[in-house]
Amino acid sequence: MKHLIIAAHPHEASFTMSLARAYADELEKLGHEAHTCDLYRLDFNPVLAAAELSGANTGSPMPGDVRREQDHLRTAGAVAFVYPLWWASMPAIMKGYIDRVFSYGFAYDFKGGAMRGLLSGKQAVVITVSAAPLEAMVKSGDWGAVQTLQDAHIFRTCGLNLVEHLHFGNIVLGLSENIVRRHLERVRTCANKHFAATPSC
Ligand SMILES: Cc1cc2nc3c(=O)[nH]c(=O)nc-3n(C[C@H](O)[C@H](O)[C@H](O)COP(=O)(O)O)c2cc1C
Repeated sequence: MKHLIIAAHPHEASFTMSLARAYADELEKLGHEAHTCDLYRLDFNPVLAAAELSGANTGSPMPGDVRREQDHLRTAGAVAFVYPLWWASMPAIMKGYIDRVFSYGFAYDFKGGAMRGLLSGKQAVVITVSAAPLEAMVKSGDWGAVQTLQDAHIFRTCGLNLVEHLHFGNIVLGLSENIVRRHLERVRTCANKHFAATPSC
C-alpha cells in the first residue's frame, strides 16, 4: 500500500521529524511504500490566495504545488499527519496545507446542504506532540478541543478513517535517549498494529 506522511516541523533534527522518519521506516520494513511530504523542506506555500479560492469553487485548474499534493493523496491508501501542537492547534504550514490541498470538490463537497467527505476509503493516523503532559490537556479540556477541531472536524469530516491519534506529551528540551527510544518504539508499534496485515501493494 502507498502511504503519504505529511510532516511539519521547522527543524529536520526535531523530535517531531524523528517520529515521522521512524513511522516511514517501519512501513517500508513492512513492505509498504512511504512517501513523506516534509512541508518545511518543500517550502510549501500555506497561503490560500483569492484566485485559488475562486478557482477551487468553480472547478478551475489548481496551482501545480496543490495538484502535486492532491496526486499523492489520490494514490495513497493511508495518510499520516505528524506535527507538534502549537497553541493547541497545528503549525500554520500544516493548516495551510489543509486549506489549500483539502479543497472543495477534492476533499469535501456539499450534498443536500450537508458537508460530504470525499477522502473515504483511506486510513489515517495522526501523530502529535506537546510540551504539556497529555493528562493535563485532558483535564483542561484542550485535548477534547484537539479531538473535536482536528480529528473530527478536519480529518473525519473529509472522510478519512482515522484509526489512531497517537500523542506524545511532556516533550521538552533534554529528553533522555531512553525516553526518545521508547517513543519511537510506540510509533513503530502503531505502524505494525494497523498495517502489518495490510497487503503492501
Ligand atoms: C509556537 C509554539 C506554540 C506552542 N504551543 C503549545 C501548546 O499550545 N501546548 C503545548 O503543550 N505545547 C506547545 N508548544 C510546544 C511544542 O508542542 C513543543 O515544541 C514540542 O512538543 C516539542 O517537540 P519538538 O522537539 O519536535 O519541537 C508550542 C511551541 C511553539 C513553538
